[in-house]
Amino acid sequence: MTTSLVTGGAGFMGSHVAEHLVELGHRVIVVDDLSGGFRDNVPAGAEFVEGSILDHRLIDHLFEQNSFDYVYHLAAYAAEGLSHFIKRFNYNNNLIGSINLINAAVNHNVKCFVFTSSIAVYGAGQSPMSEAMIPVPEDSYGIAKLAVEQELTKLTDHPFKVSLGEVTLERALPAKDLQTFSGRLQALGFELLDDQRQKQIEKIKNLLITLVQKGEMEEHFSLSTYLGRSLQKEYTNISRLFSEVEGMTIEQYFILLKVEKVKEWLVYDELTLGEIAWKLGYSSTAHLSAQFKKVTGLTPSHFKRTGNSHRTSLDKIV
Ligand SMILES: NC(=O)c1ccc[n+]([C@@H]2O[C@H](COP(=O)([O-])OP(=O)(O)OC[C@H]3O[C@@H](n4cnc5c(N)ncnc54)[C@H](O)[C@@H]3O)[C@@H](O)[C@H]2O)c1
Repeated sequence: MTTSLVTGGAGFMGSHVAEHLVELGHRVIVVDDLSGGFRDNVPAGAEFVEGSILDHRLIDHLFEQNSFDYVYHLAAYAAEGLSHFIKRFNYNNNLIGSINLINAAVNHNVKCFVFTSSIAVYGAGQSPMSEAMIPVPEDSYGIAKLAVEQELTKLTDHPFKVSLGEVTLERALPAKDLQTFSGRLQALGFELLDDQRQKQIEKIKNLLITLVQKGEMEEHFSLSTYLGRSLQKEYTNISRLFSEVEGMTIEQYFILLKVEKVKEWLVYDELTLGEIAWKLGYSSTAHLSAQFKKVTGLTPSHFKRTGNSHRTSLDKIV
């Protein structure tokens, strides 16, 4: 079983990371000293260890007792504005604490170490910010974050840059390493897209998932016009590519997405069927009901009555 350590897992972001990992089926251990987080934030299903990342004996012991595959390091004193006034505390907690974890992760051959840095590494007054900028942190919070980034960069064999949905490696990986890399991405819930066609499919899916999630479709919404415009391509080409790769038409895929969203809203029970139909661009509730029944075998009201909350996440439809 994949085992992950989440530091700061009782905090705002760490608790969500821990929850997601539990959902992915990982064994999750949260370590947090509760200096800024709350025990109640730690998701059920995660094991909780109350303690500080500054306690290197505790950290070493945790790594000895558990064979961690992944470390998600989010513990930090995150009150950036105050860091000018608490330099020693800040460097101790955010830098030395991180070094304790990095040392243990290296000593125990952890596969992957994820660190939450901050835009504070770029300093102020450089907007819009991008990861291509030269870091000029202005306070001890930013300096400590940058120092940890640099420690981690020095440790990696294959330096890389990660932006939304894309990982750029400095050099091509040999086939064997690529396979390992792909396996690791999959364990994190990602997929390696190895050709242009798949990238295009992923773009189409992301556009449609976002559209359905927003639920702001106009009444006479046209899928072909929307995709043609968004991708700056002929719809016939987009549609052919999708059918070839996915074995279903874009229209069928789009219906499945919408039906899944209808299920979600029915379960939440906050919108009327008319409101749901309107948000998803159906011409009427009758149209929505007919399509829903065709896909699920149930009318929306029957689905609601059965209390069937079985749903599929939109990004798992196909
Ligand atoms: N929230 C943001 O906008 C943001 C932006 C950029 C980076 N970050 C970084 O993301 C991480 C999480 O931020 P957050 O907003 O969830 O903060 P948070 O304060 O909610 O969570 C941080 C957690 O770390 C714990 N912690 C602090 N020092 C610890 C120590 N020595 N040992 C063990 N646990 C300790 C705290 O108790 C808290 O539960 C931090 O590293 C922060 O610097 C946050």
